[in-house]
Amino acid sequence: MSDSPAAATAQSTLPPAAVDLDDIVVLGLPLWGWQIALAAAGVIALIFLARTIWTPTTRSLRAWALGNIAVNAGIAVTGATVRVTESGLGCSEWPRCTPDSFVPVNTGHAAFNAAVEFGNRTLTFLVMAVGVITLIAVLRSIPRRRDLTLLAAIIPAGVLGQAVLGGITVWTDLHPAAVSSHFLLSMVMVFITVALYVRIREPEGKPRVTVNPLLHALSVGLVVVGFLLLIAGTVVTGTGPHGGDAMAPRWDLNLEIITPVHSGLAWLTLVAAAVAAVLAFRTGAARPVRVASVSLVGLVIMQGVIGYTQYALALPESLVVLHVLGSALTWIAIARLYFSTTRLEAPDEAVTDLPAEHDGARTPAGPAPGQ
Ligand code: HEM
Repeated sequence: MSDSPAAATAQSTLPPAAVDLDDIVVLGLPLWGWQIALAAAGVIALIFLARTIWTPTTRSLRAWALGNIAVNAGIAVTGATVRVTESGLGCSEWPRCTPDSFVPVNTGHAAFNAAVEFGNRTLTFLVMAVGVITLIAVLRSIPRRRDLTLLAAIIPAGVLGQAVLGGITVWTDLHPAAVSSHFLLSMVMVFITVALYVRIREPEGKPRVTVNPLLHALSVGLVVVGFLLLIAGTVVTGTGPHGGDAMAPRWDLNLEIITPVHSGLAWLTLVAAAVAAVLAFRTGAARPVRVASVSLVGLVIMQGVIGYTQYALALPESLVVLHVLGSALTWIAIARLYFSTTRLEAPDEAVTDLPAEHDGARTPAGPAPGQ
């Protein structure tokens, strides 16, 4: 590796920073106006789906849970875009954008950077809306389930937590500990949303291991190693050139030492995922277990290829964003594998299969066959 990532700090192609400080105007409206309009349109579109909120079915609840997985993973990727375009301080205040305004006017930063940072902030409303709608839908289910209510309540609470962490990130001038916590909390939220997605189809009760005990143990180990892998990745990022702003503080670590720690954990994840996949097929585990384990192997290999390539190419911005997307997908696969190795069982086992479609009356969210 001739070209070290540290060298990329100097080479990093800055977007049109300090070039264009005026608002970007599209069809007579500042770009931030379009961004607010787009977020508001998204929230209104979601409210139009109110029927599925008010009269939830197992299928509609699963769709909302899937939406939560998508928006929580998605905002982590758009957050990475803020970082690599050096737009982290495009809005220098929080919750206001500047000391005088909630929208990006006279930010003192390039209009491009302000637009990227402000766009990411407006997306938070969408993430919150999907979370709140899901909570309402879960509360409307008959019978109302305590376990699902708890999971669904954590999601909007997590978005509020993210808003606070986002503020701390700005107030600390993008300290890597704050940036890293912001990303890692997103991954915790993704884990909760996957739990909700899987458990909606099961009855309320205690989890029972439904696979070979070694396979279940491996799935638990993968959650631990996978999260350590994510943490190590954020340390590499906090040491490397993509801090979110040219002046952002950095960890005083050696990239050539910390990167192999991160990639070593990736190799460990790959080995564990491969063993899990072999065990899943050999022991005749259910389809979701087989699909999750094989997807995980594929995703870790893809992440490895992107990881080594971006390191060798001195961290080009597009590959870094792709690596973050891959991280979110890998983490979803780890969570899916973990939750598919157990199944909730009703204490009395008097479980009836419920219609997947709404028939005009409120139907309970409950177990469906062949999960
Ligand atoms: C499953 C495998 C992997 C996962 C889940 C993963 C995950 C991550 C995460 C979460 C980050 C931090 C992103 C951020 O803070 O925004 C990161 C950064 C990084 N990863 Fe990986 N990684 C994997 C494999 C690898 C491998 C094999 C390499 C090879 C060297 C690698 C190289 C890097 C580098 C250089 C960065 C810093 C990029 C930057 O400057 O932002 N990764 N990774």
